[in-house]
Amino acid sequence: MHPFECRRLLPTDLKPLNSLSDYTAQGGGLAYKRALSMSPADVIAQIKKANLRGRGGAGFPTAIKWGGVRNEPCPTKYVACNFSEGEPGTYKDRYNILKNPYHLFEGMAIAIYAIGAKEAYVGIKKKYKPQVHRLFSARKEMEEAGVVPKGSIKIHLGPDEYLFGEEKGLIESIDGRYPMPRNIPPFIQGINFQPNSPNPTCVNNVESFCQAVYILRKGADDFKSVGSEDTPGTVMCTVCGDVKRPGVYEVPAGKVTLKQLLYEIAGGPADKFPFKAVFSGVASGVVTPERFDTPLDFGSLKKAGGGLGSAGFIVYDDSACMVQAALKFSNFLAKSSCGQCVPCNRGTAQITEYLKKIEFGQGSQDDVEAIFEISGRCTNQTRCFLPTQESILIPSIIKTFSAEFKRHLEGNKDSQERDLVLPKLHEYNEDTCSFTYDDPAKFPLD
Ligand SMILES: Cc1cc2nc3c(=O)[nH]c(=O)nc-3n(C[C@H](O)[C@H](O)[C@H](O)COP(=O)(O)O)c2cc1C
Ligand code: SF4
Repeated sequence: MHPFECRRLLPTDLKPLNSLSDYTAQGGGLAYKRALSMSPADVIAQIKKANLRGRGGAGFPTAIKWGGVRNEPCPTKYVACNFSEGEPGTYKDRYNILKNPYHLFEGMAIAIYAIGAKEAYVGIKKKYKPQVHRLFSARKEMEEAGVVPKGSIKIHLGPDEYLFGEEKGLIESIDGRYPMPRNIPPFIQGINFQPNSPNPTCVNNVESFCQAVYILRKGADDFKSVGSEDTPGTVMCTVCGDVKRPGVYEVPAGKVTLKQLLYEIAGGPADKFPFKAVFSGVASGVVTPERFDTPLDFGSLKKAGGGLGSAGFIVYDDSACMVQAALKFSNFLAKSSCGQCVPCNRGTAQITEYLKKIEFGQGSQDDVEAIFEISGRCTNQTRCFLPTQESILIPSIIKTFSAEFKRHLEGNKDSQERDLVLPKLHEYNEDTCSFTYDDPAKFPLD
């Protein structure tokens, strides 16, 4: 393990926990026992004291979410775990659960108790077969041993759609429909809501539940003993693209910089070219090497013009064309837009068309200006954050790499330009430190 790493959620030796007894030998189950010895309000107070911020992307304080749903007057409440992991460049939840599926269920059992929920659901993509298998067998073991209440946590197998990870889309899918984000957030209108029973639902990312287990097991002060004031605890980072050692690395949040992650832990550039740009998924602005000294926490990366998001870092070296990257990202967002909101659906598609013209040498300055104009309105009266991602990401790339865009407009694009594959991560090979990607044919540039 590199000295910059700090394994709290991942097994120290990275060996998967293969049975419940492996887990209990390492203190598994203690957190839930401790939670049950406290009042639900005190459990939430511990999470608040720890200042746990959700690891699904937005960094929302977990205690506010748990407390908010707990205080809703509706007696029927639910907990949902978001195991969609559809963000390009992110693999940490799948990696974590292959190593240890048990702490997710323990964290969810704690949340059920703290919130006063009737039951809980894990929403996971059906195509994540090894992780689905791990979850089913771990839940069986834990239920048989009485470590989690029997029948309290259901597993919902969802579609391979980006919006399955949007929390209102996730709840729609659990309710048996296509994951089109509903209008009202799940903490107000949740799973299986009825006119007289809104069933508020608390949705959290896989890692957020696992961090909650650490807090209840060791206490809030221990949790905060690593990490920064902005983002206490560890954060599980995925690094993919043009680095020597792509992989998933758990580090103390805010105490390691992006530069240390890329050069020291992930081994630096994979080839002879220096780094050019880093994207944290497709939800924030681009970060260039002058800003690589930024600490890895929510606040610092935001100040640097990027964002921590779900800590999935897509790394490009100097041989990558940023016009093409903008096109591939925009095309992904446009193809993922569900069409319920016209400004999003049309706007993301139009921006993609303009980027295509520019990338293929038929663009003009008017097209660039049109992209900025549409970015300003594609978010009007929309149901979810997807078009906001487009409106942050694409203008950020154009502004940062204006010279490269100018070259394309002048017809001077590199004729040897390499093809960039949208980094939707499929599998990780630990021996070779390499990811395979989803079939790019799923997002054709038609
Ligand atoms: C288009 C879109 C896709 C998302 N995909 C995921 C995802 O795959 N996993 C996830 O945990 N959160 C995802 N989110 C964020 C969720 O909506 C939600 O904020 C998160 O699950 C809350 O968990 P947390 O508070 O523990 O971070 C996505 C959001 C958007 C707008
Ligand atoms: S904003 Fe876009 S992706 Fe989100 S619900 Fe509306 S159309 Fe669908």
